[in-house]
Amino acid sequence: MKTVKLHNKEFEIFITDTEIAEIVYSMANQINNSGVKDPLFISVLNGSFMFSSDIMKNITIPNTEISFIKLSSYSGTESTGEVNELIGLGKDIKNRNIIILEDIIDTGITLEKIISLLKKEEVASLKVATLLYKPDAYTKEIPIDYIGKSIPNKFVVGYGLDYDEIGRNLPHIYKLKK
Ligand code: IMP
Ligand code: MG
Repeated sequence: MKTVKLHNKEFEIFITDTEIAEIVYSMANQINNSGVKDPLFISVLNGSFMFSSDIMKNITIPNTEISFIKLSSYSGTESTGEVNELIGLGKDIKNRNIIILEDIIDTGITLEKIISLLKKEEVASLKVATLLYKPDAYTKEIPIDYIGKSIPNKFVVGYGLDYDEIGRNLPHIYKLKK
């Protein structure tokens, strides 16, 4: 599908499933070659579920683990600027090498909240991997270690990303049509 309608808005294709697969494969390779030992991936739900699943299939590091955390800061197509922790980690992460898996980093408010939660636990190392990054919207100083693709400050959906909870099932990534 070249365009999709979600709620009252039209979206047009932006990043195809083929391009996504190439990006994810290349990110997995970078992590595989980073020398990290016994990594614990922390996937940020809901948006990261598809990305997390695809990247994990390409990780070849021994003793790789994954866990999930759920946060939200979005309502409609704009950040509310408020982050609510919905589901905590429920796992001992002390002395672990953590790699956060995010679908998209926009203002960075969510990322900052996650980092502050995880840093309390005396982790051994903390890296951040995001499929998409909006440099023009980013307001934080936290370095992002692995970036799949930097995109303009436009609203996108699909491949896990939602517009008011729908569109997550789309295999391609779409952007809001002007
Ligand atoms: P931030 O806290 O502003 O960086 O926003 C991070 C979260 O907002 C992401 O994990 C997404 O869930 C959501 N988000 C940001 N930009 C978009 C977008 O373009 N489409 C859908 N969700 C988005
Ligand atoms: Mg998200």
